[in-house]
Amino acid sequence: MQSLSQFLASDVSSASLQEVLLVTTQTCIEISSALKKGSLAGILGMAGNENVQGEEQKKLDVISNNMLKGALLASPAIRAIASEEEDDIVPANTDGEYLIAFDPLDGSSNIDINSMVGTIFSIYRQVGSEPATEADFLQPGKNQVAAGYVLYGPSTMLVFTTGHGVNMFTLDVEQGEFILTRENVKVDPETQEFAINMSNQRFWSDAMQNYVNDLVAGKDGSRGKNFNMRWVAAMVGDVHRILCRGGIFIYPWDKKDPNKPGKLRLMYEANPMGMLLEQAGGKAFTHTERILDIQPEGIHQRVAVVLGAANEVDKCLSY
Ligand code: F6P
Ligand code: MN
Repeated sequence: MQSLSQFLASDVSSASLQEVLLVTTQTCIEISSALKKGSLAGILGMAGNENVQGEEQKKLDVISNNMLKGALLASPAIRAIASEEEDDIVPANTDGEYLIAFDPLDGSSNIDINSMVGTIFSIYRQVGSEPATEADFLQPGKNQVAAGYVLYGPSTMLVFTTGHGVNMFTLDVEQGEFILTRENVKVDPETQEFAINMSNQRFWSDAMQNYVNDLVAGKDGSRGKNFNMRWVAAMVGDVHRILCRGGIFIYPWDKKDPNKPGKLRLMYEANPMGMLLEQAGGKAFTHTERILDIQPEGIHQRVAVVLGAANEVDKCLSY
């Protein structure tokens, strides 16, 4: 049984990248403990909206953000962070070699129903010299040196890649460390399972409506096979399922809000998940281009996402 630190010592040559991954994942273990307390984390020590210190009670996504922010800013290897919960990047150490973008608690509306959530992270090498700016983060996803997520489900799992395959680790709660439980995960190019929020159907492009209609038509339609549908409502849960048993995940462009060409964020959702999928032999595209090739224009930019089984992604884009 290989622990995460043993794995990193052999898989990652840069000591400071090892440090970034250890700090990030160690903090995720703390987030996992906070999540286990659930509403008790709010009940313990509070009256009304305040805790015993008179501080306002924070939602778990804000708590998770503060935990990651605190730990990463203190790490000498970190030049700057970008988070879904921060409007701007936060510069850290001027000698730091790495930039990290993260979604501290993906799928956070699932908290209220005690369902799956996760932390997603994407790591880049700092390019410019001196204090980091937002422009330093605006590198295409193919420049990522590592990407992954921690899934807080029935067990807490870490899944990441440093560019040589995808590995899965399970948290040993007693020891407080991640143990390697699945190596070199691959996603089958074919699938009979899809994930999309069907309630948005009328807002999709005609092409997307036609594609999904053909999936739903199953054996009776042009695809000639039945498809199953799943939707966790946390990207991290849907992507994990795809890495475990295959499938396609789509959050398409829709005309619900003309200012949002897709719902998901490029820098801390689409790019890290795109790198994982490609490393597992799958594909990750918008409607028109490979996600990892996109030149980002802002740290909170949104994109349409079609990712998963290679042949099914091709099929979807062919519409
Ligand atoms: O972070 C955005 C997100 O919560 C994803 O994790 C998830 O895939 C999606 O939004 C869920 O969207 P919807 O609310 O349409 O189900
Ligand atoms: Mn999210």
